[in-house]
Amino acid sequence: MKQRIFSGIQPSGDLHLGNYLGAIKQWVGLQDEYESIFCVVDLHAITVSQDPAVLRRKTLEIAKTYIASGIDPAKASLFVQSHVPEHAELCWLLNTIARNGDLTKMTQFKDKSGFDIEAEGSESVSAQSFKERFNSVGVGLFDYPILMAADILLYDTQVVPVGDDQLQHVELARTLARRFNERFGETFRVPQSRVMEEGARIMGLDDPTRKMSKSAESQYNAIALSDDAETVRRKIKKAVTDSGSEIVYQDDKPALKNLINISTLLSGMPIHDIESKYQGKGYGDFKSDLAETIIAFLTPFQERIASLSDEETLRILREGAERVRPIATAKLNEAKGKMGFLI
Ligand code: AMP
Ligand code: TRP
Repeated sequence: MKQRIFSGIQPSGDLHLGNYLGAIKQWVGLQDEYESIFCVVDLHAITVSQDPAVLRRKTLEIAKTYIASGIDPAKASLFVQSHVPEHAELCWLLNTIARNGDLTKMTQFKDKSGFDIEAEGSESVSAQSFKERFNSVGVGLFDYPILMAADILLYDTQVVPVGDDQLQHVELARTLARRFNERFGETFRVPQSRVMEEGARIMGLDDPTRKMSKSAESQYNAIALSDDAETVRRKIKKAVTDSGSEIVYQDDKPALKNLINISTLLSGMPIHDIESKYQGKGYGDFKSDLAETIIAFLTPFQERIASLSDEETLRILREGAERVRPIATAKLNEAKGKMGFLI
């Protein structure tokens, strides 16, 4: 029996090379080894305000990106979170198991809300501004990790492949599974996380100390998967580099290291070979070749996305939801039965 994995991406912002190399590409590699469930987490996306038309378009776009990247709907189940209402319902049940303290410590919540309860009373935060901030933060943003726990626990997930920023959330899913089991009897499987490859953490092109991000302010932070050739060339040309001129992969040259990482991950050329290839040449040559490597990857990728119609994509998503829903229904009913609901 294959082990089951579950992972998800929010349909918000523009997907970039970091999302592809750090998440989607690795999922493609896992779908033969594991029984795979991949979800477009639209209920998570609305924890920050979304334009309805944009949300609809992004949801299809993410699904197309999965498929164009090589997720095979015949092997992996691909679906939209809101198509399986058991996610929201289990989230409610788990809300009654979780405690506020489980959530206030979440780094993502602190980042997105600007609200850090551990900073209360510290000199930098006045009680007044603290209260104002707390009162304005959405309840959904606070509850976000519980919904993620529901996603994972509904399917008896064994392994959750995520970036290191999500480890804390998977840890909460483990805590809630244990807490529920202790109180109501063995119901949920305690999942393991699987951090994606170290080398696949892609940093911002404008700032190699921070991750390439959907929500970065500068357009020069990220290469979007939808960027055209001219945009890629412009962004790579503008990418910051370190002092010196040699093409070497070293920790004290974080900007260059990041560009070499992108190059090796997309071209398959080993890092050592990249260094040798540019011996005696400068950043200019390396950068213009890197831009072409990225374009050579993006062009056929974008063609595959363009060839997928909305109707076909929706059909795949509906089929995926139909396939996984019985698993979710059974698990939810098991939990409800144990809690004392009439089934
Ligand atoms: P997000 O863009 O934060 O919604 O993340 C979606 C997925 O992409 C998660 O699994 C992240 O860990 C991964 N991811 C996001 N940004 C990067 C990055 N710069 N490098 C590698 N992986 C990333
Ligand atoms: N919170 C995850 C992220 O932002 C997305 C996500 C939602 C997820 N539900 C999940 C990831 C369940 C893994 C498993 O990247």
